Amino acid sequence: MATPLRPAKRLRGTLELPSDKSIGHRGLILAALAEGESEVAVREPGADVLSTVGALRALGVAVDGRSGGDGVVELVVGGLGKGGAIGRLGGGSVDCGNSGTTMRLLAGALASGAGLARLTGDASLSRRPMERVASPLREMGADVQTTEGHAPLTVAGRRALQAQEHTLPIASAQVLGAICLAALAAEGVTSVRVPGPTRDHTERLLRAMGAAVARQPDGEGTVSTIEGPAALRPLSLRVPGDFSSAAAWIVAATIHRDAVVRLAGVGLNPTRTALIDVLRRMGADIEVERATDDGAEPAGDIVVRSAPRLQATTVSGAEVAALVDELPLLAVAMAAADDTSEVRGAAELRVKESDRIGALAAALAAGGAQVEELPDGWRIRRGQPHSAGVTTHGDHRIAIALAVAAWTGVAAGVTLDDPGCVVVSYPSFWRDAALVGAPR
Ligand code: S3P
Repeated sequence: MATPLRPAKRLRGTLELPSDKSIGHRGLILAALAEGESEVAVREPGADVLSTVGALRALGVAVDGRSGGDGVVELVVGGLGKGGAIGRLGGGSVDCGNSGTTMRLLAGALASGAGLARLTGDASLSRRPMERVASPLREMGADVQTTEGHAPLTVAGRRALQAQEHTLPIASAQVLGAICLAALAAEGVTSVRVPGPTRDHTERLLRAMGAAVARQPDGEGTVSTIEGPAALRPLSLRVPGDFSSAAAWIVAATIHRDAVVRLAGVGLNPTRTALIDVLRRMGADIEVERATDDGAEPAGDIVVRSAPRLQATTVSGAEVAALVDELPLLAVAMAAADDTSEVRGAAELRVKESDRIGALAAALAAGGAQVEELPDGWRIRRGQPHSAGVTTHGDHRIAIALAVAAWTGVAAGVTLDDPGCVVVSYPSFWRDAALVGAPR
């Protein structure tokens, strides 16, 4: 029998997080398309980033790793670009594991590839919608087939791609990223109108590599433009700490009655940090220190102290896209507030690694919180904490959110059916928990 996670006495310490996986995936794939050798330094890569490394190797890209000390792996990527042209990935059979970002971004990069590629994934990834990426790529002239809307995907390269004006029905950074990658090989200016402010890592990296890329606000969302064809300069990138992993400790320290936690070297891209704004309006004590912005991606330290009392809040509309991966943790913070909080407009959570709306409602309610499941979110307030066995559905974000619920007393005790699934994004999660005094 597994021992349940219990409330921690106090949370104290400084943590250095694994590198941001969204930036890691993009840095590696763009390096593979660049002219010359790039270096991408990644701290404690999770299974998702390793899926991208394995996929690139399967597609004929040389990726060599060497230790940079302190958990950092320096990946040297041999770019396939030549003579001022974008690199063309080869064909092959590619296992994307659990990683939606790997599969969707590669579909875009392979649209102008040199061969026929077949992209597969694990059971969770094979349930996720793929027409959302295949359809706009087809409009550009790509040959992308899904299996009844899902993986496996087949992408036949050797197509002449045309620039298009896209309007996405959903605010997805993965779909935007896939279109940007295809647009690099298309003649003319591709534009992508997105209904919410998604993460802009693709555009930032492309600009750093010399491509003509811009993003403008557009109502509640954005419109991005990419000029093709574009050649890419190689990259020298140290990927900052992952804000979504830091979010576990930001929420844990905020809710816990006796906590001071410093999170060092965390990515602070404003399209990712909306959780800080929402928690501050609930009453959280969060400071940002030593912030730097070298042009590619801003980073800094985050210091979080216990908040004596949390107020309820509502999250909806544009805010959702900027904290989509943090919503399970925000739900835990909402379950520590006295009044009723609400999350709306987050139906996308139903098609993540699991149905996160259903999975989290069940898990938090089992731990004693008052949760009403809505089609596109939750209504949540504090309840009477008790012990619960929790089904993670193999979803790292559900496992991490419920561990935080246990350590902060939102639930009295939590037994996770699959604590190992955290390796997808945060392989050192349990070690870091022990470092700050959260018992396993
Ligand atoms: C990601 C985008 C988001 C996010 C995912 C990573 C990315 O997905 O949930 O974890 O790296 O582009 P969507 O694009 O489906 O919103």
